[in-house]
Amino acid sequence: MKNKNIILGIETSCDDTAAAILKNGHTVLSNIVSTQEELHAEFGGVVPEIASRKHIEIINIVIAQALRKANVDFEDLIAVGVTCGPGLIGSLLIGLASAKAISYSLKIPLIGVNHVLSHIYANFIENPNIKRPIISLVASGGHTSIYLLKENDEFEILGLTLDDAAGEVLDKIARFLNLGYPGGPAIEKISINGNPDSYKLPRPMLDKGFNFSFSGLKTAVIYMVRKDKSLLSEEKLPDLAASFQKAVIDVLVKKTIRAAISYEVPIIALAGGVSSNSYLRSEMKERAKLRGIKVIYPPKEYCTDNAAMVACLAYYKLKKGQISNMEIDAYSRI
Ligand code: KG4
Ligand code: ZN
Repeated sequence: MKNKNIILGIETSCDDTAAAILKNGHTVLSNIVSTQEELHAEFGGVVPEIASRKHIEIINIVIAQALRKANVDFEDLIAVGVTCGPGLIGSLLIGLASAKAISYSLKIPLIGVNHVLSHIYANFIENPNIKRPIISLVASGGHTSIYLLKENDEFEILGLTLDDAAGEVLDKIARFLNLGYPGGPAIEKISINGNPDSYKLPRPMLDKGFNFSFSGLKTAVIYMVRKDKSLLSEEKLPDLAASFQKAVIDVLVKKTIRAAISYEVPIIALAGGVSSNSYLRSEMKERAKLRGIKVIYPPKEYCTDNAAMVACLAYYKLKKGQISNMEIDAYSRI
């Protein structure tokens, strides 16, 4: 049975409880994500205590579902991969405790993975042959970073956000504009009917290095609306949302392409929840093409938090013998 090369991935870093089964590191047999979006919606963001309580309630159910859907038994597993951080400690510990129990009782390797890196590996699930080096933009609710993934799969962080993450600023402004949670998809939806050049908004640190800062942009939108409440009207809101979305995405696109040019890397891989944004995808593709740079991104179900990406990264780590021991702990920051 064990020659099947089947890995279980577990992800509980934030508000999604997820488990997935991958065969040979790239064939997704199941990918179960139980989202807590509704639980957190009324607060306009994730409440850590609520998130960890919900993970405890459903983690075993989600793992059982993943196994059932994949038509495999616990005994078929050759390893278990799990997110150790960065993320919410209370949430991470639930996934980690489950993975340790499975590893211990089945005597199979436990492989702790980095959440941000696993977002990048979501690109390899359906494209195992992508050549490194790669420049990756990881933009999610908790992170906005530019990574250089080298030929030997070692990585270097070239830049990160100094304040809010891109997804976080989309969520905060969506809440301020009463557009709901999560904010990224809400802003994307309303922006379709808006003119992105209607309002002039700042693009913080646009021409400076590879770090990001979004708090100035957030404040600019808030001040603008406080000064002119009519911006919230049905008529003007799509234009404001589209202008704001464009400001965020302009910065992401420009810095990522600049990194690819500086490091002479011909491929950009998008990753993280924000990379499911159609405007980001098309802008990055169009502008990178002018520089001869190819842009790839995962299917939408592997952009937001999921466990298929965890199992995929665990597969590569297993191949390199990078196995964790039972003392491995959760961590909140990189
Ligand atoms: O990767 P993810 O699921 O969780 C974290 O690791 O944070 O990312 C969630 C973030 C949220 O901020 C959400 O608003 C954003 O990704 N997001 C989007 C879209 N879908 C999700 N942002 C822009 N456009 C989208 N379509
Ligand atoms: Zn994530």
